[in-house]
Amino acid sequence: MRRKVILDVDTGHDDAMAILLAAAHQSLDLQAITVTAGNQVLEKTVANTIDVCSLAGISVPIYAGMARPLVREPLVSDFIHGDSGLGSVVFPPAARKAEAEHAVDFLIRACLEADGDLTLIPVAPLSNIAMALLREPNTKRGIKEIILMGGSIGVGNFTPAAEFNIYADPEAAKIVFESGVPITMIGLELTHQAMVSPEVAEEVRMIGTPVAHLVTQLLSDYGEAYRQLMGFSGPPVHDVCAVAYAIDPSLIETTPMRVDIETTPGLCYGRTVCDFYGITGREPNADVALTLDQRRFWPLFVEALRSY
Ligand code: RIB
Ligand code: CA
Repeated sequence: MRRKVILDVDTGHDDAMAILLAAAHQSLDLQAITVTAGNQVLEKTVANTIDVCSLAGISVPIYAGMARPLVREPLVSDFIHGDSGLGSVVFPPAARKAEAEHAVDFLIRACLEADGDLTLIPVAPLSNIAMALLREPNTKRGIKEIILMGGSIGVGNFTPAAEFNIYADPEAAKIVFESGVPITMIGLELTHQAMVSPEVAEEVRMIGTPVAHLVTQLLSDYGEAYRQLMGFSGPPVHDVCAVAYAIDPSLIETTPMRVDIETTPGLCYGRTVCDFYGITGREPNADVALTLDQRRFWPLFVEALRSY
């Protein structure tokens, strides 16, 4: 059975690669892509999503969503993703547009029509998902699970305490984590195991297709940003990990945990407070990712790119 999924993005570099994997793998039935602001402003994240899909020949509908977080002031991650959101990559003019329907309205409609078999894969701030749950509480009945890229058990990457997708809309994250919907949290402890090595980057480059050339450019940009800012040896493809888990959960070891979101302004604003040792005795509300099976992850990623 193919898994029905909706991917929610703020297309930046790793979102683009997550889109390519989700659209290519035969085990996923990618119904649509919804877009929110995050890495860049909504106008740019929507344009980037359209450009990537146009170049790759991905025809699933794209819906523009929230242009800003629920409460906090908007922010972008331009120091990693650049002014365009996709670094220095230049695309040919795209011949398609986003759908007229707002992403939140679409998410509600899709979830209400689903009979509990729809997986949402948000790899962006949770503004669209939270707004759908707020506007129509019955939305959650159609959702089988939410596999989200976001948060961390330990340190953050946007502040010392918070990971970007959560920090960009903590109030939205609180709504999602307290919704009662089954959640798998693919946080930084997992995604930092998915740093692209020079060998994998070369394997992608050697594919030699327009999509492979796009990903090679993205990896070069993204890698340089991570090298300069965090001293990483290679770019972590955060968002790809969430899609990989949807394809094959055996790729990632998880453990049930209570996760709460800090929404009090201050040093820990936007932190995913993970009760790793069960100290609070509170019922777990998420399966938190711990270990990535890299031996099987990288071939999955490269073979999907080879299929374009
Ligand atoms: O912290 C990593 C997350 O922030 C990824 O989703 C990346 O695309 C950025 O949005
Ligand atoms: Ca993202």
